[in-house]
Amino acid sequence: MCGIVGYIGKASAPSILINGLRRLEYRGYDSAGLAVLEDGRVIVSKAPGKVASLHEKARHDWPAERFARCNTGIAHTRWATHGPPTEINAHPHLDESGDIALVHNGIIENYRSLRTRLESKGHHFYSETDTEVLSHLIGDNDKGDLFQAVCDALHQVEGTFGIAVVSAREPDRIITARRGSPIVIGVGDGETIIASDASAIISHTRQVIYLEDNDIAIVTADHVEIRDLDQVPVTREVAELGFDAEAAEKGGFEHFMLKEIHEQPDALRNAIRGRLDFNLGSSVLSGMGSSARDLAEIQRVVMVGCGTSLHAGLVGEYAFEDLADVHAEVQQAAEFRYRNPLITRSDLVVAISQSGETADTLAAVREANQKGAFVMGLCNVVGSTISRETGRGVYLHAGPEISVASTKAFTCQVAVLLMMALKLGRGRRFSREEGTRLAREIERLPELVEKVVTQSARIADIAKRYADHEHTFFIGRGYLYPVALEGALKLKEISYIHAEGYHAAELKHGPIALLVEGTPVIALANDIPGKDKTLGNVEECRARGARILGVITEGDHEAAEFMDDVIEIPACHPLVSTIPTAVALQLLSYHIARHRGCEIDQPRNLAKSVTVE
Ligand code: F6R
Repeated sequence: MCGIVGYIGKASAPSILINGLRRLEYRGYDSAGLAVLEDGRVIVSKAPGKVASLHEKARHDWPAERFARCNTGIAHTRWATHGPPTEINAHPHLDESGDIALVHNGIIENYRSLRTRLESKGHHFYSETDTEVLSHLIGDNDKGDLFQAVCDALHQVEGTFGIAVVSAREPDRIITARRGSPIVIGVGDGETIIASDASAIISHTRQVIYLEDNDIAIVTADHVEIRDLDQVPVTREVAELGFDAEAAEKGGFEHFMLKEIHEQPDALRNAIRGRLDFNLGSSVLSGMGSSARDLAEIQRVVMVGCGTSLHAGLVGEYAFEDLADVHAEVQQAAEFRYRNPLITRSDLVVAISQSGETADTLAAVREANQKGAFVMGLCNVVGSTISRETGRGVYLHAGPEISVASTKAFTCQVAVLLMMALKLGRGRRFSREEGTRLAREIERLPELVEKVVTQSARIADIAKRYADHEHTFFIGRGYLYPVALEGALKLKEISYIHAEGYHAAELKHGPIALLVEGTPVIALANDIPGKDKTLGNVEECRARGARILGVITEGDHEAAEFMDDVIEIPACHPLVSTIPTAVALQLLSYHIARHRGCEIDQPRNLAKSVTVE
């Protein structure tokens, strides 16, 4: 969501902070700011808009030679929660003395009462944010020891935080802490970098320490000391990041989204590698439980997630029921703990999250853990909070996903869910031969997706005909119904076209009233069970003047007859076909958004990882 960077070392802090913010901009990007220490003072620069505006402003505020002299600082890119994205509301925020600066991710829930109390003691507030209260609270508690002051202040706040704090009075350190909002500390050679996301650290070092909830650290250029909020020292391992700086660059593509769409054959290869057992006709996923007994005990699979991850779970629901004969359901993570989830010890709860930080999904994990379920994570980001709190699970290995719109994470999530269903199914439903056949189909995924990705230019051409409409419908049934939902989500978030995904049969129960001459309908009519019925629904749309773009199986001339335009998907197992179909829709959305001149990697109002409820 918002992004934090902190630097202490010998290099120019403003340059490093701005470069770090650029790496984090995808997480939230409505304003940005930084604070550095210079000659016993805190200097702040902030700007509404993108990090580029902050860079301009900082260059204007500070001559280049001053840039090089500042070796300690903190910075932030904001996704507004309290107060609009103005310069005043941008972080860092100062305390009353102006000597202490703070950047904060998360929400201080009791900020109103704290603010009233501090105002009555003579504090002046300038912003509408909850964060400014915390900077004042730290200042109010500072009796000459910044670490102690931050501890005391954090004991008084309710809510979530990932913070970094500097003080002009203690220029040799940065204090950082977390509760519910990630903080990673990069341990370099004579320098230390703090960030909310490892992508801001990777160009400096691969050695990192992940803070746990309620950890607070004193960070200097060559030392990191971690305690809990009661000041008891704690030990955290130094881990090695599993990707390099190049993976976090655009690599010649116009947008991260296009790069990540094209990376899918490799991402899928990595997600599948070593996980299919063709002899046993099963998959090797130790994160699902180590013994046959563990698996035999599973009576039900409950998947939780948000947005695109929720849609992956909907495909998974079909896979578990059809392949493994096990009852499966998907629940919106945001609802999970506010209803009475009937969870037992024989339930496998799968938390699906690319970032592994989504607040709603994390809350669902905690609820399921409390109820004694067997909980596992399906995350992409290694070391993320959900992956650590579940303690077991399967990583996607899709590589860093920078574009706000999720693409390769979705297809890898579905691939892993198929492998999970295969593993459960081998113990319950199908024979070794059937298992091996399915494993071979899953193995084909990189090649199947490659065939779709190479159609990008053709899809760009088709996209022109669908770019000037303000409403678009996606229809599908069976396994393709969740893909229709995902296709609509992708289109609306990056092109701002109002798009709805419906079960093909549901259209005539209401939404068909919206069709007029030329309304685009994207029909997922691959040659899988249910195709004929979907073609019947396509006829109903055509009769109302809709323009139909069909996603069909390669060479299916009969289906092509029903469509104004077609994108062809190679023939494959019906469940497996969800993945190349989703890739075709990703490309369609991408090219439509590009024709419309949208900011594809950073759509308005969105953030990459949503760490507030
Ligand atoms: C849409 C998108 C979001 C995320 C959702 C959950 O393209 O990316 O809908 O899928 O915010 O995020 P994760 O998977 O990180 O929990």
